[in-house]
Amino acid sequence: MDLLVLRVSSLLMLVLLMLFILAEGATLFSELSESLAVYVTGADNSSPNGTKAGTDELFVTWALNSTVQVDDSAYRSVELKLCFGAPSQIDRRWRKTNDILSKDKSCGFDVGSPQPYQRAGNSTVWIVGNDIPFAQYFVRAYVLDSAGEKVAYGQSSNAQRTSNLFIVQPISGRRASIDIAAAVFSAFSVLSLFGFLLYEKMSAKGSKA
Ligand SMILES: *[C@@H]1O[C@H](CO)[C@@H](O)[C@H](O)[C@H]1NC(C)=O
Ligand SMILES: *[C@@H]1O[C@H](CO)[C@@H](O)[C@H](O)[C@H]1NC(C)=O
Ligand SMILES: *[C@@H]1O[C@H](CO)[C@@H](O)[C@H](O)[C@H]1NC(C)=O
Repeated sequence: MDLLVLRVSSLLMLVLLMLFILAEGATLFSELSESLAVYVTGADNSSPNGTKAGTDELFVTWALNSTVQVDDSAYRSVELKLCFGAPSQIDRRWRKTNDILSKDKSCGFDVGSPQPYQRAGNSTVWIVGNDIPFAQYFVRAYVLDSAGEKVAYGQSSNAQRTSNLFIVQPISGRRASIDIAAAVFSAFSVLSLFGFLLYEKMSAKGSKA
């Protein structure tokens, strides 16, 4: 009897867990409608050194693709992401593309917070972040509905993620070493402050004795 209860309840747990997984991570990239047109300019493809992290700007434009027949009445906001091009994903499991969007690692960087959706589109200027690693990238825009679920997308590259890619060049060695020196220096000042406080406390004790 007890065993039966145990079995039924564990089965119930399993079903609940599966429902939860389905509800949470079921949004598949392959089910999204490709209804936005997305363009990136300012990405320096002519220079072998590419777009410089920390200083260079990307100009991202998006709009509903007028040739796509789609009902956009549920579209509410747009999320812009910087994504790895296919050549920069080879042999890198941590950048792997997964059709289950909650497990997808190809678009790790945010380019501007959620933007209101407008059929006519809009644009934004983004200064490439200091933390963007050297790689080939494109920009993808996800369209979210009022529940925050992804329902559509558009991207500046082709489906194979091989065309119109741009290189991001990390901050130069000199800039990087200045940043490191600054970090070490601030760590040192925190340590010396602690040291000073400790010294103060100990000498205060010493003078009392
Ligand atoms: C717009 O959609 C059409 C039809 O799907 C497609 O052929 C075209 O490449 C799209 N345009 C852009 C700019 O994405
Ligand atoms: C690319 O980087 C190299 C080495 O840092 C530098 O000598 C060269 O001038 C750069 N080229 C361009 C076009 O920025
Ligand atoms: C573009 O988006 C910005 C910020 O959300 C907004 O202030 C602006 O009015 C939008 N532009 C157009 C043409 O709708």
